[in-house]
Amino acid sequence: MNRPADRCVCVVGSVNVDTTYRVTALPDSGETVLASGKMIAPGGKGANQAVAAAMMGSAVTFLGCTGEDAEGDLAVGLLAGRGVDVSQMRSVAGAATGSAVLIVDDHGENVIIVDPGANQRIDAAAIRRHLSNTPYQVILAQLEINLDAVAAAFESVPASTTVVLNPAPIGMVTTSLRSLLQHTDVLVPNRVELGQLAGRPTPVNVDAMDACVAALGYAGTVVVTLGRDGVALYPRADRPDRFLVDPVQVTPVDTTGAGDVFCGALAHGLAAGQDLGGAVRRANEVAALSTTFVGAQLAAVALSEGHRPPGTSAPVP
Ligand code: RIB
Repeated sequence: MNRPADRCVCVVGSVNVDTTYRVTALPDSGETVLASGKMIAPGGKGANQAVAAAMMGSAVTFLGCTGEDAEGDLAVGLLAGRGVDVSQMRSVAGAATGSAVLIVDDHGENVIIVDPGANQRIDAAAIRRHLSNTPYQVILAQLEINLDAVAAAFESVPASTTVVLNPAPIGMVTTSLRSLLQHTDVLVPNRVELGQLAGRPTPVNVDAMDACVAALGYAGTVVVTLGRDGVALYPRADRPDRFLVDPVQVTPVDTTGAGDVFCGALAHGLAAGQDLGGAVRRANEVAALSTTFVGAQLAAVALSEGHRPPGTSAPVP
């Protein structure tokens, strides 16, 4: 693939098939609710982020695994169809392609359960080999895959590569996850993940968020995605400077994958040489607009095809 030298992004991550149920309100524990509809669509945090970066104009290579099944073939075909370089992807014998069940309510809020399947079988040695020989401007990873693959990726890239970690889902904060931070330039948690990483309650105000960031013991950049409250940017987590980026006013129909669109758009902006603040602001806009469409990956595609959020004249990427 002929990649423009200034916009190369490598995503190391997951591929899932998403089954989404629409409900009026998310069920409580022990409650049964009837869905008003069901949709099956491509997903996985890694694939969603890769598609978002590609839709923004980056040359994106994806490192990840599917099972040897029809779902995997379909998911890889869809990624390739969005212009993502899938030549380094592998299918794993005896494993199923990752899958997820999503429940989305009338306000666009969601809960998600993931069965990672083949996503947990990425060959760390293969990642190391590829990244030792192929330079990228930005490498972006999340945590739906085996941690040793993420570690191999981050350890193999040259110092000139910007390393971005979206610590989702965070699961248990392990020693190996903390050691990943030593190789991370830009950490992009949401507020729940930030609290867990810091070993503190989920921050509900700016002071608590500042305290969490300070408690990380981390000197890189932290970008906290705050959903309907916008974004908080800490250029250096070990210094008190913090900038709040206002939310973009939209009426969401599905917030699924908004964080993924944010990460993909941010990776694109950084690879394209935008300054940190500009890249964060643009990612904030694009992620907000993505919530006005249904589906994780489909929203990024809809935006790139020029569809406007219903009832608005908002600009598209
Ligand atoms: O962030 C949304 C994604 O989380 C979904 O696509 C689902 O597959 C899970 O990975």
